[in-house]
Amino acid sequence: MNKLQYKFSGKATTYYLDADFSYLEKLVDKDHAVIITDSNIFPKHQKKFGGWNTIVINAGECFKVQATVDSVIEQLISLGADRKTVLIGVGGGVVTDITGYVAAIYMRGLSFGFVPSTILAMVDAAIGGKNGIDVGVFKNLVGTIRQPAFLLYDLSLLKSLPKEQWIGGFAEVIKHACIKDAALFKELEKNKLSLYQKDKTALNRLIRRNVTIKSTVVEKDEFEHGERRLLNFGHTLGHAIENLYELSHGEAISIGMVAACMISEEYTDFKDTSRVITTLKKYGLPTLAEFDPKAVMNVLRMDKKKVKDSMNYVLLNKIGQGVVKTIPIVQLEKLVQSIITAR
Ligand SMILES: NC(=O)c1ccc[n+]([C@@H]2O[C@H](COP(=O)([O-])OP(=O)(O)OC[C@H]3O[C@@H](n4cnc5c(N)ncnc54)[C@H](O)[C@@H]3O)[C@@H](O)[C@H]2O)c1
Ligand SMILES: [Zn+2]
Repeated sequence: MNKLQYKFSGKATTYYLDADFSYLEKLVDKDHAVIITDSNIFPKHQKKFGGWNTIVINAGECFKVQATVDSVIEQLISLGADRKTVLIGVGGGVVTDITGYVAAIYMRGLSFGFVPSTILAMVDAAIGGKNGIDVGVFKNLVGTIRQPAFLLYDLSLLKSLPKEQWIGGFAEVIKHACIKDAALFKELEKNKLSLYQKDKTALNRLIRRNVTIKSTVVEKDEFEHGERRLLNFGHTLGHAIENLYELSHGEAISIGMVAACMISEEYTDFKDTSRVITTLKKYGLPTLAEFDPKAVMNVLRMDKKKVKDSMNYVLLNKIGQGVVKTIPIVQLEKLVQSIITAR
């Protein structure tokens, strides 16, 4: 096992990398802990949950809503949970978001930890303390920023992870490499997904590196005034087409990253769009989409990164170096149009 520690708002979060699920018993008192997991994970890893108080929520983004929060709270009351209870979210981003959110509000705040079970949750969702729920069409509209006490990584959970979820997680891995880590990008260019699925040492190193990238960015800028914005690389256009065209998040941000690379070529000295495209394709991610530039622009105009008539857009100076540039909306409209025509 390998330990890392980061401080957010002056409080430490400990990461137990390459750990075993059973190590949880050393971190919390079983009698004063409640695990929250979902209906896909629970039956596949039932043995691990033996002897733990466990709440199983329905799997899927459509259950990341207030009704699930209410149901979890009712079950916590039945279990006699009090201020000393520690909540442990074992799952993907939906479970970690729900757990962090419930932990923030139940009895005005309980301590909590995560055991992320998807690549996306391991490298992204479980890190950084943003936890929330969806309201109608508005994703993550309601939530809190509050950090977990610990994160425990047990890679054996990934044995049951469907391939499309691996691919989706790698979209965020490639994102991290693009904005922060040229050496990681080179490694990804050289390797392929099946290597990380088979080679535990390589996967462990990859996860550690991604955990470090996201945690360092958040440590510098927990409340997103500057540096943390870099994590939105590919997400501006990505979010717009994710909702419009019912793409998975990974697919949408993959296309968003290609668009951001093309825009970078106009605004910075960036010249490596083709390398990014090749790498995304190698990991099974799409780089092209038929979309209507007008519909996309309408959604972009509603984006919270918009300031007056301009938009803060994450671009690349080069691979491994993200940068935020302010682009006038009129200009962006022309660029989006030309990107689509170029295809
Ligand atoms: N809080 C943040 O900072 C942050 C950052 C990024 C994403 N998110 C949120 O995370 C969510 C997406 O995360 P996700 O992709 O992990 O989604 P998810 O939790 O829905 O998991 C994806 C699917 O995989 C299943 N699953 C999870 N682990 C499994 C395992 N080990 N074996 C088999 N099946 C498994 C789940 O049941 C689900 O069907 C979104 O709601 C997003 O808003 C939050
Ligand atoms: Zn994302």
